[in-house]
Amino acid sequence: MPRQFCVGGNWKMNGDKAQITGIMDTLKGATLDPNTEVVLGCPAIFLEFTRSNLPARFGVAAQNSYKVAKGAFTGEISPAMIRDVGCDWVILGHSERRAIFGESDQLVAEKVIHALQSGLKVIACIGETLEEREAGKTEEVVFRQSKALADAIGADWSNVVVAYEPVWAIGTGKTATPQQAQDVHAALRKWFAANVSQAVADAVRIQYGGSVTAANCKELGACPDIDGFLVGGASLKPEFIDIINARM
Ligand code: 13P
Repeated sequence: MPRQFCVGGNWKMNGDKAQITGIMDTLKGATLDPNTEVVLGCPAIFLEFTRSNLPARFGVAAQNSYKVAKGAFTGEISPAMIRDVGCDWVILGHSERRAIFGESDQLVAEKVIHALQSGLKVIACIGETLEEREAGKTEEVVFRQSKALADAIGADWSNVVVAYEPVWAIGTGKTATPQQAQDVHAALRKWFAANVSQAVADAVRIQYGGSVTAANCKELGACPDIDGFLVGGASLKPEFIDIINARM
């Protein structure tokens, strides 16, 4: 079975109701590749607003969730709450969460398994820093991050999308070349075959993220192991439509 192309827009901590309304109008008015799944990662406070103003054709994702359903965890939100406002997705393990907020592989894995058990679909992010790449450690890092996920998730990855986002490419305008991205995606798929199962390796969608634009998305999207994108800056702009349509 071919893997369905999946494009996520990660708005990060950007937007207000007026700007989000503009983005939604652009999305609703556009001709979109019917074969591409689209998920919008929106700030928690706007999840319900965004969900209630978009057709079901669009998924809406939180950008974080905690590892338990409720309790004394001031400032956190749970997968149960995300579902309660009608959303189906959460982005977890983004490099900004890992680097700025100190999230470990272990915590990310605990959040992922709790989100899955709560009925959310998860975009799980991995990726190496520039220092790690230059030290030749790219595979070591993304395999370590994948192992933490695999130890928690087990055999069923049907509600998981993996986002490979090299940290050095995020928000820098320095996109991985299609060959660099394809090499890591292919290595990850081999890792999944060896460490989870061939079925998961064949079926799991691996998005590329890091300075994806309308100008570079077609070449990246043509790579056999790239199954979509996770887009930051460009997801706030009309060019996001071209990125959704990269394979059209
Ligand atoms: P940019 O597309 O702005 O580089 O961000 C990528 C990203 O972090 C998506 O999660």
